[in-house]
Amino acid sequence: MAIELDLSDVRRDYESHSIGKGDMDPDPFVQFGRWLRRARDLELLDATAMTLATADADGRPSARIVLLKHVDDHGFCWYTDSRSQKGRELAANPNAALLFHWRDLSRQVRVQGTVEQLPAADADNYFRMRPEGSRFSAAASRQSAEIESRARLEDKVLRLRSAYPDGDVPRPEAWLGYRLKPDYFEFWQGQDNRLHDRIAYVADGDGWRIRRLSP
Ligand SMILES: Cc1cc2nc3c(=O)[nH]c(=O)nc-3n(C[C@H](O)[C@H](O)[C@H](O)COP(=O)(O)O)c2cc1C
Repeated sequence: MAIELDLSDVRRDYESHSIGKGDMDPDPFVQFGRWLRRARDLELLDATAMTLATADADGRPSARIVLLKHVDDHGFCWYTDSRSQKGRELAANPNAALLFHWRDLSRQVRVQGTVEQLPAADADNYFRMRPEGSRFSAAASRQSAEIESRARLEDKVLRLRSAYPDGDVPRPEAWLGYRLKPDYFEFWQGQDNRLHDRIAYVADGDGWRIRRLSP
């Protein structure tokens, strides 16, 4: 065994106010907005980072972090390379989950639903807003494909930079936005003695059914 770490003693206590169903907005998007705003107001690092879990056609899961770029009551949006592992899995199986963890607030939010691609025009708009370096990196990278070396990748960026000296490198066609339309939310608030609060919202017709889950 090259490494063995016993982490069974690693724990901490949570200090926060308990939450009840009555404290939660009937609309989970409004509730999510409140929690995200709180995380951003505290300037938590990567407050908009979310773990995106997808599964292939056989149901084998995979997960990675992406950045939330837009949220409204139609869903949660991010941008990526549709040729990547997540892109291929979403094409085969649109069911996915998102997870936000704001450690300093002892909070997590789980979101589940189905994913659709955004129109190319949305990707064009967002691509133009990205810093120049990020645009060149996206154009040089076929995300998740095996590459020979880092040097090859850097060469490709240099070639693109000399082909587009004004910085106006085109968006790779496969670089697109995605939206997860939720049918389930769960708001988790850490509490003392592991007696945590979990409030779930399940889509029910045009509205949401709210229930408390055992921690
Ligand atoms: C904080 C953070 C933010 C990230 N944001 C994005 C993102 O918005 N889009 C993206 O494609 N990859 C993002 N990544 C990289 C992904 O986690 C992942 O490595 C990449 O998308 C390839 O994933 P895949 O091979 O499973 O498709 C981010 C990683 C971290 C740690």
